[in-house]
This record gives sequence, structure tokens and C-alpha cells, in this order.
Amino acid sequence: MALASIKVEGPVLAEGQSSLSGTMKARTLQLGAYFYRISSDYRGSKLVASSGRQTIAADISWIMGAGVHGQTYILENMTGKKRNVYESEVSNFALHGMDVTPGHALVEAGNLKNALGERLSTSAAARCFGCHTTYSSTNSKFDVSRAVPGVHCEACHGPGVDHIEAIKTGQIEEAAKAILNPAVLNPVDSVDFCGACHRTAIDVVESEVSYGPMNVRFQPYRLEKSRCWGSRGDERLTCIACHNPHEVLIREASSYDRRCLSCHAPQGKSHPTGAAPICPKAGTNCTTCHMPKYDVPGMHAKFTDHFIRVVRADESYPN
Ligand code: HEC
Ligand code: HEC
Ligand code: HEC
Ligand code: HEC
Ligand code: HEC
Ligand code: HEC
Repeated sequence: MALASIKVEGPVLAEGQSSLSGTMKARTLQLGAYFYRISSDYRGSKLVASSGRQTIAADISWIMGAGVHGQTYILENMTGKKRNVYESEVSNFALHGMDVTPGHALVEAGNLKNALGERLSTSAAARCFGCHTTYSSTNSKFDVSRAVPGVHCEACHGPGVDHIEAIKTGQIEEAAKAILNPAVLNPVDSVDFCGACHRTAIDVVESEVSYGPMNVRFQPYRLEKSRCWGSRGDERLTCIACHNPHEVLIREASSYDRRCLSCHAPQGKSHPTGAAPICPKAGTNCTTCHMPKYDVPGMHAKFTDHFIRVVRADESYPN
């Protein structure tokens, strides 16, 4: 597998730059038996791991993650004629700086060849690039040289060639048919659509790390556990009811209230038949109490629980 020269999903960390989006911290780390640092010059950046006596390095060929919470490196080096691809042992966290990549174990002394990270099989790399880049697979064949960093229009809307062609020739109706508009999906399919990357219940079953607060990042799985969701879902509660994938994430809790109040009668109003129950506690900022934020172990960040519910003070994380 040939990885192209450095491609960055998010902002580049230039050598000597101590802050990324103002918050990226240290770029060196002692982790178990190894000392890690990023070294950069005009040719690009490398991750270097050193045990004091021995050193191993690999090119950082891709940086995964826009950096809201953190970034992990895809590394490449050669042993003889064999190209090795790794997920880096260390990641850079927005609120913390460098630390071990979530899910990785500490590498024991004397195991230099594993110190850089976890070797990625072609299928693992294909999955990683499939969620974090666009165009990495054509006709189901993984070809990293075509990948473009980040999630672009065609990652969600499918290939646009026929669509553009139809627009150019003035066939507007044909053009609309030639591209996927996810707005037409039913609620379950709509959530599964985002779940292709954001992960659904199946991913919880299939992944060994996904019980406990780790799965708070699997929003489709969490959301569908909510009693609000019902058994077949509701278009007032799909991902796109609350999030516009074309715009930045809204952080003011109050702006989500109208979503809740599209089903729940507001406080003080008489309770219309068929409407969902009324909150006895508060009339605004619903998500702050009913969609609590959790620290995900090792992620150095809080994530929003999309399992909408009454949260009891003494409860442990409900799987
Ligand atoms: C092709 C994979 C993919 C699909 C499909 C996808 N996402 Fe994402 N989404 C990502 C990745 C990756 C990130 C993390 C940002 C990054 O590193 O680029 C993200 C981040 C987000 C964020 C957080 C943005 C922030 O600023 O923190 C929201 C909200 C989001 N996606 C909503 C959606 C919704 C809604 C859908 C369905 C309409 C969707 N996504 C479909 C891959 C995807
Ligand atoms: C099934 C899809 C999927 C796969 C596979 C996947 N990711 Fe992600 N990743 C996401 C989504 C969606 C997000 C954003 C939402 C979240 O953090 O829950 C994310 C977030 C991240 C972030 C934090 C991004 C930020 O902006 O804060 C990093 C770093 C990251 N992934 C690295 C990787 C690496 C490296 C691989 C492969 C070795 C990988 N991911 C595999 C879907 C995926
Ligand atoms: C993360 C997935 C995702 C990405 C990336 C994405 N879209 Fe969308 N797009 C959607 C979804 C879901 C809808 C339907 C829901 C809606 O209208 O909000 C949509 C709707 C649209 C519509 C409106 C169709 C209508 O009926 O009004 C247009 C136009 C559009 N997208 C263009 C783009 C363009 C151009 C890009 C790239 C700059 C892009 N989208 C990137 C998911 C995405
Ligand atoms: C009822 C409204 C609502 C629905 C439905 C919803 N979200 Fe969210 N989402 C939120 C809120 C509120 C936040 C937190 C915003 C903040 O405070 O930063 C959030 C945050 C996120 C984030 C940023 C990371 C985090 O955990 O804070 C991602 C990614 C995300 N949502 C994806 C999704 C996906 C995918 C779906 C569909 C399964 C979805 N959301 C459905 C309200 C919603
Ligand atoms: C599609 C309609 C709909 C939307 C949107 C919706 N809910 Fe609900 N919600 C319901 C229904 C219906 C019930 C009652 C389900 C039952 O009794 O089985 C419910 C139940 C609840 C409960 C009680 C759950 C429990 O575990 O006891 C809470 C809390 C709640 N909703 C809060 C919210 C909040 C907060 C929002 C917005 C973030 C929201 N809901 C959005 C329909 C909705
Ligand atoms: C300050 C925290 C807080 C806020 C903000 C809040 N709630 Fe609640 N809500 C609670 C608590 C606590 C309960 C459980 C009350 C009990 O069981 O005595 C509850 C209960 C509920 C219930 C279950 C009622 C029932 O009869 O089963 C619903 C539905 C609900 N809230 C919806 C909402 C909605 C919608 C909003 C925003 C308009 C909201 N909540 C804002 C704390 C809050």
C-alpha cells in the first residue's frame, strides 16, 4: 500500500508551533520505556521513539482527526522492501497534549519495533480512511493514493459526476435524481446513514472495547436507546433534526430546546393528549440534564450522551 506524502485531515502541526487552535500542548512524551517526539523539517514530519539506546522513526503520512478532541498519526516506514503502516502509539489531544492513543497498550521495553504503534492491516486502514477521508475506495477497492483528507460532499452524497453533467446541460430534474439526497431517508435509515461512520448498535456488539463510557461516542446507538425514539424512530429526532452536517456544531444548549419541545409539551401548558410528558423540573436547556457529558477514558475530552433519559444521581453508566 503506497501512502502519499503528508496529508492532513485537520490543521498541520508545524515544528516549533506550540499551539494548535490555541490549545495543543506538549509535543514530546515519555511513555513507559520510550521517549516520543515529533521532528519536522522541509521534507515533512516524523514520529521518533527512543529507548535511550535505540531509536526508531517513521514518516507521518496522514494526520487523522480534525482536532476538535485530538489527532492520531498514520505512520509509514520501510523494513527492507516491505512498507509498514501504523496507527501511532501516541496522539495529540486538544486539551492535554500528547498521550497514548486510546485503545493502545503500553509497549514493553525491548520491543522497539512495536514502539511506533499498531501495525494496520489493509482492511483496518481501509476502515480508518473510509471514515476520515473521501475517495479512498473506488469500486470497493481501497486505494489510498486517491484519498482526500476529511469528509467531503461526496462522502455523504455519493459520486457527483452525473449530477454535475446534468446541471451543465440544463437538465435540473435529472440532476436532482442523479445525486443522493439523504433527506428522503426514513428515520431509522437516516440515523444509520450517519451511523456508517458514527457507529450503531452493531458496532457495539462487534467491537471489544465498546462497553462502558467508550460507547458514548457511538451516538446512533445511544440515541436509539432513548424512550423518545420509540421503536421505529421519528423524524423529529434524527441526527439531522439537531445537526446540520454542513455547518459547525452548535454549542448553546438552549438552541436544542425546540427539538425536545416538538414532542414534549412545554412547562405550564396544559398537556395535550398524545403529547410526550412534561418536565417537572425545568423549561429550558433540556440537554444539559437529559444528555449529560461524560469523560471518555483516555480521550481527554467530554462527549455528549445521546441516550436521552432521566439521569439519576447514583446511576453508573448505562450501557
Ligand atoms: C464518512 C464518514 C461520516 C459520515 C457519513 C458522517 N460523519 Fe459526522 N463526522 C465524521 C468524522 C470523521 C468526524 C470528526 C471530525 C473529523 O475528524 O473530521 C465527524 C464529526 C461530526 C460532528 C461533530 C463536529 C464537531 O465540530 O465536533 C457532528 C455533529 C457530525 N459529525 C454529525 C454528522 C451527521 C448528522 C451525519 C449524518 C448526516 C454525519 N455526521 C455523517 C465522519 C462522518
Ligand atoms: C467507523 C468509522 C471510523 C473509523 C473506522 C475510525 N474513525 Fe476516527 N472518528 C470517527 C468519527 C465519526 C469521529 C468523530 C466523532 C467522535 O469522536 O465520536 C472520529 C474521531 C476521531 C478522532 C478525533 C477527531 C477530532 O477532531 O477530535 C481521531 C484522532 C480519530 N477519529 C482517529 C482515527 C484513526 C487514526 C482511525 C484508524 C486507524 C480511526 N479514527 C478510525 C469515525 C471513525
Ligand atoms: C456528513 C454528511 C454530509 C456532507 C459531508 C455533506 N452533506 Fe449535503 N446533506 C446531507 C444530508 C443528511 C442532507 C439532507 C438533510 C438536510 O437537508 O439537512 C443534505 C442536504 C444537502 C442539500 C440540500 C438538498 C435539498 O433537498 O435541499 C444540498 C444542496 C447539499 N446537501 C449539498 C452538499 C454539498 C455541496 C456538500 C459539500 C460541500 C455537502 N452537501 C456535504 C449530508 C451531508
Ligand atoms: C436532540 C438533539 C440531538 C440529536 C437528535 C443528536 N444530537 Fe448530537 N449533539 C447534541 C448536543 C446537544 C450536542 C452537544 C453540543 C455541545 O454542547 O457541544 C451534540 C454533540 C454531538 C457531537 C459532538 C461530540 C460530542 O459528543 O459532544 C457529535 C459527533 C454528534 N452530536 C453526533 C450526532 C449523531 C451522529 C446523531 C444521530 C445519531 C446525533 N448527534 C443526534 C444534540 C443532538
Ligand atoms: C419524537 C418525539 C420526541 C422528541 C423529539 C423528544 N422526546 Fe423525549 N420522549 C418522547 C416520548 C413519546 C416519551 C415517553 C416514552 C415512554 O413513555 O415510553 C419521551 C420520554 C422522555 C423522557 C423520560 C425518559 C425516561 O427514561 O424516563 C425524558 C427525560 C425525555 N423524553 C426528554 C427529552 C429531551 C430532553 C428531548 C430533547 C433533547 C426529547 N425528550 C426529545 C418523545 C420525544
Ligand atoms: C435542571 C435539570 C433539568 C432540565 C434543565 C430539564 N429537566 Fe427534565 N427532568 C429533570 C429531572 C431531575 C427529572 C426527573 C424528575 C422526577 O422524576 O422527579 C426530569 C424529568 C423529565 C421528563 C419525564 C417526565 C415524566 O413525567 O416522566 C421529561 C419528559 C423531561 N424531563 C423533559 C425535559 C425537557 C423537554 C426539558 C427542556 C424543556 C427538560 N426536561 C429540562 C431535570 C431537568
